[in-house]
Amino acid sequence: MSKGEELLANYEKEVEATWRRMTPKSRELCERAEKYIPGGALRSHSTGTYPSYGERVDGCYQYDVDGNRYIDLALGMTSIIGHNHPEVARAVQEQVPKGLVSFMPELGKDALAEMMCKRVPSVEKVWFALCGSQAFMWAIRAARAFTGRDKILKIRGGYNGTYDDAMATPPNDLQPMGPPGLPRNTLDNVLFANWNDKEGTEKAIREHKDDLAAVLTEGLQTGGTIPPRDGYLTFLREITSKYGVVLIFDEIVNFWLAHGGTGELYDVKPDLSCYGKGIGGGLPMGLIGGRSDIMKLFSQGEKFRVAAIVAHQGDPMGVAASTACLNVMTADEIARINAMGESLADGIRSILEELGIRGQVIGYGNHQSVHMTTADEVVDPVAYLGAANTPGLKDAMALYRRSLINKGVRTLDNLMALRISTPISEKEIHAVLAAMREGFVEIHPILKEVAPDLVA
Ligand SMILES: Cc1ncc(COP(=O)(O)O)c(C=O)c1O
Repeated sequence: MSKGEELLANYEKEVEATWRRMTPKSRELCERAEKYIPGGALRSHSTGTYPSYGERVDGCYQYDVDGNRYIDLALGMTSIIGHNHPEVARAVQEQVPKGLVSFMPELGKDALAEMMCKRVPSVEKVWFALCGSQAFMWAIRAARAFTGRDKILKIRGGYNGTYDDAMATPPNDLQPMGPPGLPRNTLDNVLFANWNDKEGTEKAIREHKDDLAAVLTEGLQTGGTIPPRDGYLTFLREITSKYGVVLIFDEIVNFWLAHGGTGELYDVKPDLSCYGKGIGGGLPMGLIGGRSDIMKLFSQGEKFRVAAIVAHQGDPMGVAASTACLNVMTADEIARINAMGESLADGIRSILEELGIRGQVIGYGNHQSVHMTTADEVVDPVAYLGAANTPGLKDAMALYRRSLINKGVRTLDNLMALRISTPISEKEIHAVLAAMREGFVEIHPILKEVAPDLVA
């Protein structure tokens, strides 16, 4: 065993021992749930061994059944206004006595659609779905129907939900046939290009222009919050317009970077945009918004229309919560949490510098990521992830994240997508930075062994 492996093994023992001491009830519940639910926990295990069971959430805090409290910097990639926002609670409570589902056009849906059209320059009409994945599935279907073409091009490094075509990835060593359960011929209709690679993207679009229905991208790639470089999104807009390809933005998580979403932030008007849980204020939601001539395909009054109906789409609770959320998220409120996100990023940079650890803290406003890298600039999520997943560094950072949870701070893997919600105050930023610093001090000797380039 190398010295690095030994240090990792010892640190893992320590982290796991603390976790078991903190969460005995959760452990018991997880073991019992495994009898009835595959894996026991509903989402991926967010700790090395088993997750803690939630008791309640409030504001920017999660509370587990063992009495632990965590500052939530992941928010399930959803409610930017934190958990259990009083305005959302009030809106939903007011809706309950009016009924849960009517199968009539309910009041509220029209108002929400109007709000979105007035708020987002590229949105002329809105269609309702239940979640982000479904919004994407229907947006792709509409783009195919509109253009009469089959292929879509995904910009790699983003995540656009779990609909087959949207989640296709090129085969790799871990998944030589692509993601399990996808038909093998999925890739006949899905092309890939790298984020910020104008040349490669241009070539892929030009070569397939006659078959290409849509280009799918996020305005800022959630996978590492890597911003567009040198006008990459403007370039995407120009080239898709040139070849009559539908440009679809994923605003499911990053809508809140600016009042009108990432389209407004980077001054680009996509043809269609998909929204979801980010808007829902904590409740399920899915929306597609965009150009009237494409959106017309969703109209139930049209003979030539796409199938985009499910029983509960635009459910009144989700609509009430989303409307409340949009009202809370004024331009001033967004500016405030963006400043808070920048102050978190500055704080992390100072810690890295102080401890002599190399890395980049990048993103925009309320959405930041830490990249453990020697590079001066991070431009490609795929290249970054390849580097982050090298054994040793990957293990050290996974333990670092688990140690943060032990210290009461929840993040996603690899310190990606650190999310500032509106209830977070200076006090929490302070606590997060203190926990992060302590964690970096703990893994410093490990990094020295497993990733010496990163440590001065
Ligand atoms: C950027 C992005 N797009 C799409 C989705 C899918 O949304 P949903 O989970 O509501 O289906 C997610 C979910 O995390 C996301 O982060």
